[in-house]
Amino acid sequence: MKHLIDILDFSVEELQELIDTANDIIDHPEAYSERCKGKKLATLFFEPSTRTRLSFEAAMYELGGNVIGFSEAQSSSAAKGESVADTAKVISCYADIIAMRHPKEGAPLVAAMNASIPVINAGDGGHNHPTQTLADLLTIHREKGRLSNMTVGFCGDLKFGRTVHSLINALSRYEGIKVVLISPEELKLPSYVKKDILKEHDIPYVQTSDLESVMPDLDVLYMTRVQRERFFNEEDYLRLKDSYILTPDKLNNAKSDLSILHPLPRVNEISVEIDSDPRACYFKQVLYGKYMRMALILKLLKEAGKL
Ligand code: NCD
Repeated sequence: MKHLIDILDFSVEELQELIDTANDIIDHPEAYSERCKGKKLATLFFEPSTRTRLSFEAAMYELGGNVIGFSEAQSSSAAKGESVADTAKVISCYADIIAMRHPKEGAPLVAAMNASIPVINAGDGGHNHPTQTLADLLTIHREKGRLSNMTVGFCGDLKFGRTVHSLINALSRYEGIKVVLISPEELKLPSYVKKDILKEHDIPYVQTSDLESVMPDLDVLYMTRVQRERFFNEEDYLRLKDSYILTPDKLNNAKSDLSILHPLPRVNEISVEIDSDPRACYFKQVLYGKYMRMALILKLLKEAGKL
């Protein structure tokens, strides 16, 4: 059974296949509107989410399928003490595919090991968020026409930002990628990501706390929110939350074809004045996320012999 737990579960060829399908859906949405007729997606969200859950739901509806599920742990049997393994076995009797978000790292993997239907990791703690990466890859591909030979800056909470970890993982397999890591000391990229991904793949990277000094080098700037819910104390969060606020003046020395991405939700790290700058891609990125989730659902259901 093919699942998507980690972005590395898919080869570069498979990622390209998803990008091609998503582009085809964008061009011919009507050809896809009944592809999942009679199929059910279960959205098991043990952690708050608007975008990702609704994106999955919209994706399944646009494929003509149905959606069941819950949006908080309190309204599921987890509140009674049910294990993730049991929940996965139970839901396998009701649905054709699962999208799971969980505050604990590894929970979707446990679900995949126990489910008899495909499982998609919709974000596990501060670990991974592979379907956000699918949205990010389609955005970069459509903006730049390639996924190789570029300098990508990641700015903000690189420690707890699971979207950052998954995107770095994905980009590590393309040629000519350079990474610039911009964060305060306390929110630096975890050393396991540096060692297992960047060093392992010989990807040149620099670490800095100064966004403006590296701005001219960047082809893509991936901004992130400081992840309040993962801090152990409020004091640290308050001290670090305003570390980076992207304002128009900070883009003065940026490339004219820079692409600014953000997985959203935004708090204040990108000023709303930037929204009208043609380099701002974060709302397009939301839309692309839906198309990539449609492509993903189709691929996993096909591989499971359900389509
Ligand atoms: C991200 C997440 O949940 O990790 N959001 C998302 O899925 N679009 C980023 C975040 O919450 O800051």
